[in-house]
Amino acid sequence: MKAIVVQDQAGGTAGMTLAERPEPAAAINDVVVRVHASGWISTELEWPSTWTDRAGRDRAPSIPGHELAGVVTSLGYGTTGLSVGERVFGIADWHRDGSLAEYVAIEARNLAPLPDDLDVTVGASLPISGLTAWQGLFQHGRLKSGQSVLAHGAAGAVGTMVTQLAREAGAHVIGTGRAADRAKALDFGAHEFVDLEKDALEDVGAVDLVFDVIGGDIQQRSAAMIKAGGSLVSIVGPVEAAPADGRVVDFVVEADRGQLTEIARRVQDGRLRTNIGTTTTLDDAVATFNSTERAKGKTVVLIKP
Ligand SMILES: NC(=O)c1ccc[n+]([C@@H]2O[C@H](COP(=O)([O-])OP(=O)(O)OC[C@H]3O[C@@H](n4cnc5c(N)ncnc54)[C@H](OP(=O)(O)O)[C@@H]3O)[C@@H](O)[C@H]2O)c1
Repeated sequence: MKAIVVQDQAGGTAGMTLAERPEPAAAINDVVVRVHASGWISTELEWPSTWTDRAGRDRAPSIPGHELAGVVTSLGYGTTGLSVGERVFGIADWHRDGSLAEYVAIEARNLAPLPDDLDVTVGASLPISGLTAWQGLFQHGRLKSGQSVLAHGAAGAVGTMVTQLAREAGAHVIGTGRAADRAKALDFGAHEFVDLEKDALEDVGAVDLVFDVIGGDIQQRSAAMIKAGGSLVSIVGPVEAAPADGRVVDFVVEADRGQLTEIARRVQDGRLRTNIGTTTTLDDAVATFNSTERAKGKTVVLIKP
């Protein structure tokens, strides 16, 4: 099968090659999926799991890509809940070969059925961004109606999902980003917008929940704005700042079939819009990833025409 392969972390996206690789086999509780579309996150090549397995052993050359939509082609021993020919979408294991390939072997529990009226491009754009927003707001952030959310990077792939889900849940959403992000953040439902390069973040006042996708100084300053009993939820590694009287959670998103189904339902009925910035093909993906133009929104690679 055709797949994008990385061999050397120092090489970054410039070290990616389109190569011929053996098709994967389904292990216990796995399915093999013919990948139709794969979502791409530019930071993937910095994740340790791209380079090592769960025992810490070097696993290069590895196939990156962890969001996918496609069709189940075979079942592993003991696999239930999905069937051959079913359309699915979900998250591939961080430590295994991923979805920038014609086929991927993946645990069935990491996938949910993709409704017939959702395009594979849309399906591949949702799992990481949608689940990260869902888990950060509702599981880790314990968001309640009437609370305020400071949604950093509100025009980004995760930030647009955070904004829409928080607003739907009855929260007041203050989006942040660069000046050029204002219109997009407001269009995705932010009630207010803070230009982090020009406006005074602290003018927003106290908030119940900070959803941090940036870290560093922005995280430090945001922590000081959290109300007593509020939460700082971060998806960019160990938190360095703590609110005076609040909770801190940093987490890595997990696959969840029920939550994927909720997210798909919201896209079907128009409550949630995905944020796709760029689409490309498997043949052109390496060139797209190495483009000097900074991607805005999710990059989706169409793998089966
Ligand atoms: N822990 C997890 O489970 C998890 C899951 C998903 C993503 N992540 C991580 O979360 C981060 C965001 O992911 P994403 O997919 O949403 O990325 P993205 O689409 O690039 O969105 C990030 C947004 O934040 C903006 N931004 C970043 N730094 C900024 C700054 N200093 N000032 C103003 N705006 C700034 C970006 O603007 P520009 O494009 O102009 O910089 C962009 O609009 C990445 O580091 C990703 O690896 C973690």
